[in-house]
Amino acid sequence: MSAITLSTLNGLRESNRPFSCLTAYDATFARVASDAGIEVLLVGDSLGMVLQGHSSTLPVTVEQIAYHTQCVARANVDSLIMADLPFMADASLSELLNNAATLIRAGAQVVKIEGNGWMAEGVEALAQRGVPVCAHMGLTPQHVNAFGGYRVQGRDPDDAQRIIDDALALEEAGAALVLLECVPRALAQEVRDALAIPVIGIGAGPDVDGQILVMHDVLGVTQGRVPRFVKNFLFGEASIADAFAAYREAVISHEFPAEEHCF
Ligand code: KIV
Repeated sequence: MSAITLSTLNGLRESNRPFSCLTAYDATFARVASDAGIEVLLVGDSLGMVLQGHSSTLPVTVEQIAYHTQCVARANVDSLIMADLPFMADASLSELLNNAATLIRAGAQVVKIEGNGWMAEGVEALAQRGVPVCAHMGLTPQHVNAFGGYRVQGRDPDDAQRIIDDALALEEAGAALVLLECVPRALAQEVRDALAIPVIGIGAGPDVDGQILVMHDVLGVTQGRVPRFVKNFLFGEASIADAFAAYREAVISHEFPAEEHCF
């Protein structure tokens, strides 16, 4: 495999070939995932939950994401590396720019930011400075307190329309990717069809360009309630490398996500 870039993802979207994305936080798992051909590695702020044991992603800092991005970048082979801008790291435009720069210097090639249409100014400023942005929409875990829990978003027709309009505004502002979390399948397809950039889904159904899961969920070590959109790919496989390859293969062959993983 040659190095995955945003052009690769755009080409895969054009040829309707889904791509796989997986979270990674350290060198060993990053190497195994990249060797398995996973197209995108996300250094997610989910590390606050799966590595640090917090009950949300809110305590995670830019320094922690930068540290784990460096670990992943050292071991990466050909995957595209995306890193999460954690809670409040975009409290002002200058903080957003400086914190995104920290993540790029650590080895990220794309910075993921959670929010909605209000992010357009920041997305534009980053895009102008050569920082590709993935706009994470729908269920944005950094808003868990405002949402009153981890709930499916966009079920209400007005909310669904707002998500479509905001995705278009963020694309217009220069977003390179959109990530939709926990939205109804039909809405994800509408967003995908409305945009020209690749759309990645988690709990968003199969009709998008890429799928992402948290590595621990793929390996069947989810703590607490197992979300509907998760599948244990280690089950029946001989190794972690095989599980990652099985996940990628299931995404590419449209076997995952299946109906039972959709909202
Ligand atoms: O932090 C994370 O791991 C994420 C994915 C769940 C999309 O944002």
